[in-house]
Amino acid sequence: MKMSMLSTKAACNSHGQDSSYFLGWQEYEKNPYDELSFDLLESWLENNPDAAGFKQDGDSIFRDLALFQDYHGLPAFKNALVDFMSEIRGNKVKFNPDNLVLTAGATSANETLMFCLAEPGDAFLLPTPYYPGFDRDLKWRTGVEIVPIQCTSSNGFRITESALEQAYKQAHKLNLRVKGVLVTNPSNPLGTTLSLYELNLLVNFIEAKEIHLISDEIYSGTAFRSPSFVSITEVLMDRKLMDSDVWDRVHIVYSLSKDLGLPGFRVGAIYSNDDMVVAAATKMSSFGLVSSQTQYLLSAMLSDKEFTENYIYENQTRLRKRHEMLVSGLKKTGISCLDSNASLFCWVDMRHLLSSKTFDAEMELWKQIVYKVGLNISPGSSCHCAEPGWFRVCFANMSEETLEVALTRIKTFVDSITIPDFHHHHRSRKSLTKWVFRLSSKVREANDR
Ligand SMILES: Cc1ncc(COP(=O)(O)O)c(C=O)c1O
Repeated sequence: MKMSMLSTKAACNSHGQDSSYFLGWQEYEKNPYDELSFDLLESWLENNPDAAGFKQDGDSIFRDLALFQDYHGLPAFKNALVDFMSEIRGNKVKFNPDNLVLTAGATSANETLMFCLAEPGDAFLLPTPYYPGFDRDLKWRTGVEIVPIQCTSSNGFRITESALEQAYKQAHKLNLRVKGVLVTNPSNPLGTTLSLYELNLLVNFIEAKEIHLISDEIYSGTAFRSPSFVSITEVLMDRKLMDSDVWDRVHIVYSLSKDLGLPGFRVGAIYSNDDMVVAAATKMSSFGLVSSQTQYLLSAMLSDKEFTENYIYENQTRLRKRHEMLVSGLKKTGISCLDSNASLFCWVDMRHLLSSKTFDAEMELWKQIVYKVGLNISPGSSCHCAEPGWFRVCFANMSEETLEVALTRIKTFVDSITIPDFHHHHRSRKSLTKWVFRLSSKVREANDR
């Protein structure tokens, strides 16, 4: 009865909060862990009390901040943010603050770009596997459709020309007009950066099809080992495309949720060379502004070059170490990961642990790992992966000790199941109940410490 009084949007299921990705996070929230580099931010705050205390050179600016609501953003913050974005790209690219639109996180930036670039019923092509939140961010309120660009393990989930063409054809078969391609570079969930070959392929593709390209570069500061991260802007500049139409059709999404680990502050941005997109997105940003207080605090923090330089370096060093711990720990358990160099995740191959090569078997394995082993990992199916048996494991939201506990848990779990014989598609289990019981007392011990 009540449902019939609500809008279709409010009643429909396409937000995705009941998906395995979000259910995993609910489990995680019950037992969260430390962030990777909070200590660096906290020590900066301690040394710069004015920034969070509504003060500038000792004088209160409370009233100015309380009244500020210009949707063009605080100029000092936009300057500091574009400089930070350049620094992350080794200062090979310069960004103009006039082309930057502030948004409440990358979530809002991505949706706003959909409202600017597409009509309801138009399509964007996305390489799979992709960040599960895109179903909500790109489709839910805008009516835009996502058509997958199917990437597979055969070439390490790289984008190919034929996969792009196939997705384009598929959209046409579905009677959808393709307005663009959206990529995440570095990738969530793969943990890889796009190669120069893939970046050039994308530029050629959007040039030929006369469509847009959105590059979600929310993980750009996390590339912790070679090959290094290359921004799409760098490729356009190298190809001297600054005066072409393509230059105006490439839009970058950024946020401080990952590189600074501040998802609660809701700071994101759109960077576009198309003045009309910048103007429209700025007007739309009224629906998701960044608080003036946050802008003020972060303009002070990001203008401190000594701090940003040290933070970027130290954060990447910690990520590299944590990544190595996870990869080598899993290897000892007989589990391998896709070779990766960035972001906060590993794309883990557990195909050999499935009871059959199906997504049902993937869900069965996922449920055991989340609910019994107590680790929040995301099944590939929640990222629209085309092949069952891949899982995303985040290594940045826990301490080293916790990562060790997690690796022990996984080892015990894997040892408790015998590897399936794929000829018979059969897997047997060594008393899992006993193992879970043993493990929970161990975990309790670890948690009590
Ligand atoms: C690829 C990607 N884009 C966007 C987002 C959303 O980030 P924000 O917290 O800035 O809205 C995420 C968060 O996980 C992400 O992984």
